[in-house]
Amino acid sequence: MPQPPSSFSADLTELHAEIWRMLGRGAADAKDDLHWPGLTTIDAQHRPQSRIVVLRAARPGERGLEIHTDHRSLKMRELEHQPQASLLFYRPRSRAQIRVQALTQLHHLDDLARQRWQTLGEAGQTLYCSSVMPGSPLESPEQALTPALTSEQGLANFVVITLQVQTLEWLELARPVHRRALFSYPDSVLQAQWIAP
Ligand SMILES: Cc1cc2nc3c(=O)[nH]c(=O)nc-3n(C[C@H](O)[C@H](O)[C@H](O)COP(=O)(O)O)c2cc1C
Repeated sequence: MPQPPSSFSADLTELHAEIWRMLGRGAADAKDDLHWPGLTTIDAQHRPQSRIVVLRAARPGERGLEIHTDHRSLKMRELEHQPQASLLFYRPRSRAQIRVQALTQLHHLDDLARQRWQTLGEAGQTLYCSSVMPGSPLESPEQALTPALTSEQGLANFVVITLQVQTLEWLELARPVHRRALFSYPDSVLQAQWIAP
């Protein structure tokens, strides 16, 4: 299939705004490809570790993104040790990749975590109410759900990870030329540059 012509702005500042609007839509809509980025962390042996997560929020004004996780998961140990992380998004219909480098902050049993816990609803909270540590061996998949923890115990397993975006790279395989742009925020001021694909 031929590459589609670009449907994004050729102006870097406008393109940057479009990308953040896309991230906002991705956070709000589970049917959007940008809802499911890959998160890469670095483990204690300096090895990269990647996994899919759900993008929960995008705040363009703060250059902030948000994801949720279990306090007992390996990624938590990795982020406690090394707070730098990367998020990778792919939007197939425009053959566009968004690569983000960010500094993470972990919110555990603080106001933000409690507030997000309330918005999860019962089904969302259940994920954190397993008495079995993520990654533990099981006799069967169902074993992870029994015995279920109380909501208060589940909250203790729940972490909001906020990501302060440091660089955001856009690559679009478009016709007639591929477009790659690098955005960064030194002293909170947007810096934007086309770069070779
Ligand atoms: C579609 C999908 C969405 C997921 N969303 C999340 C998520 O939002 N947060 C999370 O911690 N894990 C999520 N996971 C599970 C992770 O990919 C991973 O398996 C798990 O968090 C354990 O990772 P870790 O051992 O590296 O900490 C998701 C997995 C899939 C397949």
